[in-house]
Amino acid sequence: MKILPYQPDQSGLAYSVGITLDRFIKLKQSDFPFASGELSQLLRDIALAAKIVNRETNRAGLSNIGGAFGQTNVQGEEQQKLDVIANIRFMRALSKGGEVCAIVSEEEDAVIDLKNNSGKYVVAIDPLDGSSNIDVNISIGTIFSIYRRKTPLGSPITADDVMQRGREQVAAGYVLYGSSTMLVYTTGNGVNGFTYETSLGEFFLSHPDIEAPKNGSIYSINEGLQNQWNPAIKAYIDHCKDQAYAARYIGSLVADFHRNLLKGGIYLYPATEKNPNGKLRLLYEANALAFIAEQAGAVATDGNSSILDIRPSSLHQRTPLIIGSERMVRDFEYVSNQIPQANPL
Ligand code: AHG
Ligand code: MN
Ligand code: MN
Repeated sequence: MKILPYQPDQSGLAYSVGITLDRFIKLKQSDFPFASGELSQLLRDIALAAKIVNRETNRAGLSNIGGAFGQTNVQGEEQQKLDVIANIRFMRALSKGGEVCAIVSEEEDAVIDLKNNSGKYVVAIDPLDGSSNIDVNISIGTIFSIYRRKTPLGSPITADDVMQRGREQVAAGYVLYGSSTMLVYTTGNGVNGFTYETSLGEFFLSHPDIEAPKNGSIYSINEGLQNQWNPAIKAYIDHCKDQAYAARYIGSLVADFHRNLLKGGIYLYPATEKNPNGKLRLLYEANALAFIAEQAGAVATDGNSSILDIRPSSLHQRTPLIIGSERMVRDFEYVSNQIPQANPL
């Protein structure tokens, strides 16, 4: 009998599909010397829920799950059916795995105690971001943050477990349901992006070690609200126009952030008259993206301090968010500081 060593194909006839998310997570587990695999499992649970939400999103127009659900969430925003469905999907995935003790979600009034006192992790999630874009086939997303609980394993959860600064995240990520579906995450060792291959039902590594350009020429802000901005914001946006930067605003934070992360740009959601603390939520939106931004060499601020240093005082707390290429955020700080007596936000 002839026995030959395996020789990888050199013909170029069958292109390599690359490394799957599951395999990547497993390989990376060794970055954490005492990792027990629970964080890895939790990331896999999130990826599975993302695949299901991706399926629902793709079929939304056919399966009568477009449109409003008929209720408002705790923040007074109209819930879309897909907001509610995505929330159910992620809640289910996170509660089944056994790694999580508590979940905070944009779509839930209160902290959800899973009564799993042996769960090590707390998850904060915006199950569906950009929900006003669902019915018009424009990119939407999911944003998540993972924290290690503060209280000892085995004890009931407390506010300390949930109200942690963004700096304390152990992992964060987002899923972009766009022209292709991507999952981008960090565990504090750089940022990696995976593209969903629908026919295989797997995420594959497509964007290893994402590094944000240090500078850029895209600015993203809802300019319809400019009469409600502070003069400092106006001054910076005038500066963007003087520089002839491109204005790009999708209205889905994940999609706007993702584009700017890859191409170089700045996203701003400042305080407005209607939303004096900004519109975006610290726990579900700003913290995760700020962690990813910093890991990719970009910057996130509320105008006064780094987003990751803000100590939350309430669950659904909002924050102004200025996030993007380092040079652009520094220019924003410089320009807005030139405005006399203006509180930058
Ligand atoms: P969500 O759908 O989770 O409530 O988030 C919507 C957010 C964010 O995705 C987007 O950037 C922003 O709201 C858009 O707000 P405006 O319509 O006020 O610009
Ligand atoms: Mn959102
Ligand atoms: Mn949402």
